[in-house]
Amino acid sequence: MNLVLLGAPGSGKGTQSSRLAKEFGIPQISTGDILREAVKNKTPLGQKAEEFMKSGRLVPDEVIIDIVQERLKQMDCVKGYILDGFPRTIPQAEKLDQLSMIQRALSLDVSEEECVTRLSGRLTCPQCKLTFNPSTNPPKKADSCDACGTKLILRDDDKPETVKKRLKVYNQQTEPLINFYKRSGRLLAVDGSKDPENVFKTLKNLLQSKISTGVI
Ligand code: AP5
Ligand code: MG
Repeated sequence: MNLVLLGAPGSGKGTQSSRLAKEFGIPQISTGDILREAVKNKTPLGQKAEEFMKSGRLVPDEVIIDIVQERLKQMDCVKGYILDGFPRTIPQAEKLDQLSMIQRALSLDVSEEECVTRLSGRLTCPQCKLTFNPSTNPPKKADSCDACGTKLILRDDDKPETVKKRLKVYNQQTEPLINFYKRSGRLLAVDGSKDPENVFKTLKNLLQSKISTGVI
């Protein structure tokens, strides 16, 4: 089952794709996490990507496409995968269709206002990448990850002015992908504004119904 998860910054892509990955036994591939790890380790990729990410812009298509192409060749992708944060532009989506057969694109509909609220104060686990928010999705113990206990951090690009830029970039460059997948009959859009458990159940049920009818 090869899936793409679409949605604005803060719509819950990371939250839902990690749960779906566990549920269906396929890897979650987050291009944002791959890039942040590269920045942290100061690799050549990290050095290329850092300035783009800090300012809320997308890293160039050719850079990210190469990374995804390599990642999809790994053994854990044989039964499928869920892409979180890729594709982000029409050229990325077209290239992905040449590399693999994407059966469905799940899209999380969340208002821009709600995304801004969720990202302000978002806490991220640098170890297992889970995210929390003191007001909408608090960790059980303040500042510690529920899953692994690591100290939670604020992401560099969650500053209000960078969030604004990321949302603008999303509207201009990524939102057209909704129509791209709709036109090819692969879009499954869900209301992402409900609580995380509710959104997860909706996504899971939708996918299970497609699996049981042999559609995917
Ligand atoms: P990336 O890491 O992909 O960031 P993003 O798309 O901006 O999305 P976020 O990770 O901020 O939000 P999310 O949708 O995952 O929400 P989350 O689940 O955390 O990309 C970062 C940067 O890398 C880009 O700006 C770009 O520079 C670069 N990049 C990455 N991929 C690229 C590509 N393909 N091409 C070019 N450049 C690329 O949830 C958000 C918060 O809300 C959390 O606090 C969470 O706990 C809470 N929450 C989640 N769901 C709910 C809910 N249902 N109700 C209430 N709260 C909720
Ligand atoms: Mg994310």
